[in-house]
Formats: sequence, C-alpha cells, structure tokens
Amino acid sequence: MDKMWVKGGNTLNGRVSASGAKNAVLPIVFSSLLADGKHRFENVPDLLDIKSTQVILESLGCTTQYEAGVLSVEVEEPKEKLAHYDYVRKMRASVLVLGPLLARYGEAKVSLPGGCAIGTRPVNMHLEAMEALGATVDIAEGYIIASAEGGLKGGRILFETATVGGTENALMAAVLAKGETVIENAAKEPEVVDLCNYLIKMGAQISGVGTGILTIKGVDQLKPAQHRIIPDRIEAGTLLIAGAITGGEVTVTNCEPQDLQPLIAVLREAGFKVDTGYGEVTVRPQSQWRAVDVTTSPHPGFPTDLQAQYMALMTQADGTSLITESVFENRFMHVQELTRMNADITPKTRVAVIRGEKGQLTGAPVMATDLRASACLVLAGLVAKGETVVSRIYHLDRGYDQLEKKLQSLGAEIKRVSE
Ligand code: UD1
Repeated sequence: MDKMWVKGGNTLNGRVSASGAKNAVLPIVFSSLLADGKHRFENVPDLLDIKSTQVILESLGCTTQYEAGVLSVEVEEPKEKLAHYDYVRKMRASVLVLGPLLARYGEAKVSLPGGCAIGTRPVNMHLEAMEALGATVDIAEGYIIASAEGGLKGGRILFETATVGGTENALMAAVLAKGETVIENAAKEPEVVDLCNYLIKMGAQISGVGTGILTIKGVDQLKPAQHRIIPDRIEAGTLLIAGAITGGEVTVTNCEPQDLQPLIAVLREAGFKVDTGYGEVTVRPQSQWRAVDVTTSPHPGFPTDLQAQYMALMTQADGTSLITESVFENRFMHVQELTRMNADITPKTRVAVIRGEKGQLTGAPVMATDLRASACLVLAGLVAKGETVVSRIYHLDRGYDQLEKKLQSLGAEIKRVSE
C-alpha cells in the first residue's frame, strides 16, 4: 500500500491543468449501458474509480479500453443484469447501473452499497424513484432486486432532498420509459448537467437541464455517441487551495470558472485575490487574510467535497471559523488527523470550530479515511513544519489523477512511497 510523504514549507507557484471530473465521468460511462454499440469518452482522468468502472462494465458484457484519457466502451446485452457486491462495495457509484439496466431490460439485481466512512449514505431515494416509474423493488440478501414487466412508465419523482446519484439514476431510467417523467427537486450539480448533455447526444429528450425540475420524454431507443467530460471542479478547487495555503500564485487551467464560483466567492471574502479568465482561475498570495465561515450545501452552494480541503486552509487563517457540514452526517473524519498535526479544532456533530493560526501545524504520520479527507491531509502537510506521511492513499487514487505530480510541478516537496 502506498503512502504520501510531504515536506512542508514550500510556496507553490505556477500553472497546472485540471483533469476530467470523476463525478461526471462515472454516471456518463454507466449511461452507455442504455445503447448498444461503441461509446467514446474524452478527458477521462486516470483514476482507480475508472478501473473499477471498467471492471463492472466488463462484468456486464461490455468491452472497454482506456488509453491517454480516452475511454471506449462497446456495449452489448449482458447475460446477467447483475452488479455484484464485490464491485459496489469498492465504489458506491456502481449503484448507478440500476437505472440503465432497469430501463433497458426491465430487470436489475444490484448490491446495496452499505455504509461508508462519511455516513450511512442510504439509497432509498434511488429506489423510490424506480418505483415511481412503475418498478417493483425488493431487497433480498443484500441486493436490490428490481423489475418492471412490460418496461418502465413515465411518472412524477419528487426528491425529499436533492440527491446527485438519485437524480442520475432517475434520469437514466426515465429516458427509455414510456411517456413523460418529471423529476422535482432534482440535483443541479454541473456533473448532473454533463450527464444530461450526454443522454441528449444519445437521443434522449430532456428539458430543464441545470434546474431543479427536469422533464423527460421517453424515447424507444438511444444510440451511442462521443463526449468530452467536463473539468473536475473539486480537483481544481483543491489545487487553488494548495496555492492559497502556501501563499503562492497558482493558476489552474482547463477548468470551468463558473463551476468554481462557490469556492472563489469564499476565497475572495477571506481576502485572497482571485482572477478568472477563459478556462482558468488564478489565486494570488495575500500577506493578510481572515477566517470565513462556510456551510456546505447542494450546488450552487459550497460543495461538501471541498469541505475538508477548506478546513486545512482555515487552520492557517487569522482567526476562528465555523464549518458546518449540512450534506453528510459524518464528514469530519479528517478533524482527528488534523488535530494530530497540532490543529486547534473542536468538532461537534455537524459543526467544527477551527481556531486558525499561521504556522500552527506540525508534520505527523496521519491516516486518510476517505477521498477528500486525504486531499485535506496532503494540503495540511504542505504547510506543516517537518514531514507528514499520509497512509491509505488508495482513497486519494480513487479520485485524483496524479495529484503528487501536479503538486511537484508547482514546487511542492511530495512523493509517493511504497510500504
Ligand atoms: C455525490 C458525489 C459525492 C458528493 C455528493 C454530494 C458522485 C459519484 N459522488 O454522491 O462526491 O459528495 O454527491 O454532492 O457523484 N441520501 C439519502 N438517500 C438516498 C440518496 C442520498 O438519504 O437515496 C442522502 C445522503 O446520505 C446524503 C445526501 O442525501 O446525506 C446527499 O447525497 P447524494 O447527493 O445522493 O450523494 P451521492 O450521489 O452519493
């Protein structure tokens, strides 16, 4: 198992490119199950989650090939419409095969994802959406067993809270359902928009894209298409925070400034100068900047996927900040590890109080508990006195394409070490 070694103290400067968005590519690639033939995706990041996606698609009869950022998927009907526990347990997003399989074949057996480090993360809203489209859903021996004799039928889906994955599963089911489906309180994340755009390229009829109400007119058949995945706003945000926390000037290229607005607004409020250009964002150093409170919420709010990285930044702020996690119930696992690096943080159930002070962090061996928590610890390591070793970085590899190389190119002293 690899670890990440970081020596703190270097100022990061320069230009660095964002990769394609993990959270966009996963649902889009799973949506290829909706149409037989060859699908082609560009700007696909080199991630462990992509390898997991290939494995699950191959278990469903597809042929996949990944090379130099291009993923090709050739789809044909699977013998078994089954997503095994071994796959879903490794990557929760595998539950996104439910909608496409049910829509195309009227049946699907998909393992329940189970718990995860950032909370129980149930899939009840995914299942309710399938039922609203006429499916019968049972749970047996840890599996979701769904069927729709005669196919899915359009219906009204009202999500009690906005759910990214639930909206994506519902969309992928509705595009081939008979008649019209209306999804209310749909997630508005850029990744949901990117999925809509690919479904539309395949021939789906969707209106209201990017809003909380999506209307889908079911079609009989879809055809494979080609698509360039949007840039990863979470990776781009992580790299901007790397610039800010080390007091450097970092430009992230090949990103979408509009999708980064929630972070840019908070960085500006804290006193950083942030400039946006065509496909790029620059954060410039400030001798004095202050702590700013943040509450995570669905898009266009502050993303929960940047909460941990932002907390690393706030440990260096001049003053006290409150970070409220309103999306997930248990997403402060990084707090204990930051505390081991001498951060002054009091976590409550959903709120953490961070008493910032420049230079307070000291290097330590720490353990990554989830994907974004890993990024938080790497960022903290960049400014800690001495050396930090982050273990369990397979979490990091799930969602960051060569983060250490990108940070090295900006001047960080960081390397991957094998145990
Ligand atoms: C996706 C992202 C994840 C991000 C999250 C919120 C992917 C692959 N992952 O996760 O990185 O942090 O959106 O932006 O895109 N919930 C239920 N029942 C359900 C579904 C969700 O109670 O059926 C709850 C969740 O536990 C959570 C909240 O709803 O508290 C939002 O979760 P959701 O938007 O569904 O997150 P994911 O799609 O799992």
